[in-house]
Amino acid sequence: MKMSVGAVILAAGEGKRLKLSAPKPLAPCLDKKLVDYPLLQLNEFFKRQNLDFQTTVVVGHRRDEVRQYLERSHQDLKFAIQREQLGTADALKSYFEADVKNTDYDFTIVACADTPLITSSELETMFAYLINNNLDAVAATFTEENPYGYGRILRGACGFSIVEEKDASEVERKICEVNSGLYIFRTRYVLDHLKKVSSQNHSREFYLTDVFKIGLNVAPLHFEEKKTFLGVNNLAQLEEVEASLRERIRQYHRENGVRFIDAKTTYIDIDVKIGREAIIFPNVYLSGKTVIGTRSIIEAGAIIIDSEVHEDVVVHAYSHLEDVVIYSRASVGPFARLRPGTSVGAESKIGNFVEMKKAILEKGVKISHLSYVGDAFIGEETNIGCGFITCNYDGASKQITRIGKNCFIGSDSQTVAPVSIGDDCFVASSSTITKSMPTGAFAISRGQQVTKENLAYRFIKKKI
Ligand code: UD1
Ligand code: MG
Repeated sequence: MKMSVGAVILAAGEGKRLKLSAPKPLAPCLDKKLVDYPLLQLNEFFKRQNLDFQTTVVVGHRRDEVRQYLERSHQDLKFAIQREQLGTADALKSYFEADVKNTDYDFTIVACADTPLITSSELETMFAYLINNNLDAVAATFTEENPYGYGRILRGACGFSIVEEKDASEVERKICEVNSGLYIFRTRYVLDHLKKVSSQNHSREFYLTDVFKIGLNVAPLHFEEKKTFLGVNNLAQLEEVEASLRERIRQYHRENGVRFIDAKTTYIDIDVKIGREAIIFPNVYLSGKTVIGTRSIIEAGAIIIDSEVHEDVVVHAYSHLEDVVIYSRASVGPFARLRPGTSVGAESKIGNFVEMKKAILEKGVKISHLSYVGDAFIGEETNIGCGFITCNYDGASKQITRIGKNCFIGSDSQTVAPVSIGDDCFVASSSTITKSMPTGAFAISRGQQVTKENLAYRFIKKKI
């Protein structure tokens, strides 16, 4: 029969020390929230193990907000409510009281919402250690030269106990092996010992750490990599875990053949995908659901959000892309701003100071300088000169511009939408196109030039 596991994330605490308006589990961490990370890693762990499992989040402080967020972003979660934040043992009690089924799982894994760097690999090691040594409980520990704030590990010949910072003696405070807050229990063991936890301590809280005792069949499992267990209780720690998560993400991409010019200064969110041999320059931000294709080059200062960049594309320096698609071999920027709903066809070229919004460009279109293209469709191989504007807004609603294939639109022209230009059209520079043009048409609309010889001298003032 399969072994069964109930996993619990403790997320009821207030997190006063963070000084954010969001409740602590919803503190921002890269483009996700703090609580997302242990949940993702638990899922990963369960995916690899042949176990029956259920994950439950204990919510308390501002529970409706936390619950709403989690219901939207994760599937198959259950919730337990801790009405008053009386400590971590009380939070786990609330979990067992929320559903009697929770007492039936063979094992109970407890993780804190505020330790986002733990991975499925630590869980695997802990689980194997508990099974192989037939233990009742195991707590992950690590060494911290500055252990302030953490529970200290007091090892016995058999078993161990944990003393919290506020309750520790001078001598105990010097202990550098500390509690990570990640535990695996046999459920019957933790149920039995939870009953005995009291709040007779300095904080008047029910400490979950009190279920561990010297002389019992429980063991601390020491991990070398202390960063993995960093708890987020203040903004400095939040910054530190974000830096670690970023490095972990970059390392993953490096191993897949992505080249960074100065990796420390690039910011890549967790769901971003990057193809082999892509090159990422300094100060690049890739976020949300962005995908970067094989061999594409993202130059310095580019910000790319929720966008699809296909292979062999160059995004030149300081371009800003949001919710756009760039097809293969196209180039964009420098200093281009591509807004949502834009799609740039293969081999197209978007140059500097071009802004686009809901613009669909087919293959090989060129818009090389200083233009605004909004609510527009532009056909294959059309060339748009410098300083072109789609006048798409009549003050009340947006109107569409259509330009066909193989057109030449001279510099400093405007199209006043709604308007449609057929294929193979030529618009002379400085024209304002207000009427639609059929295929093959030429249009010019500009004031006649009048030249009067020597008249300039009347207007040019002489310096005295
Ligand atoms: C806890 C451990 C400490 C360990 C440290 C690791 C206890 C008593 N201490 O301390 O030994 O070194 O984590 O980071 O467990 N929570 C609730 N309900 C409550 C109180 C807390 O759900 O009533 C949740 C919090 O939301 C948080 C987690 O439990 O996710 C840990 O609480 P926190 O206050 O951060 O404990 P630490 O002081 O960090
Ligand atoms: Mg903490």
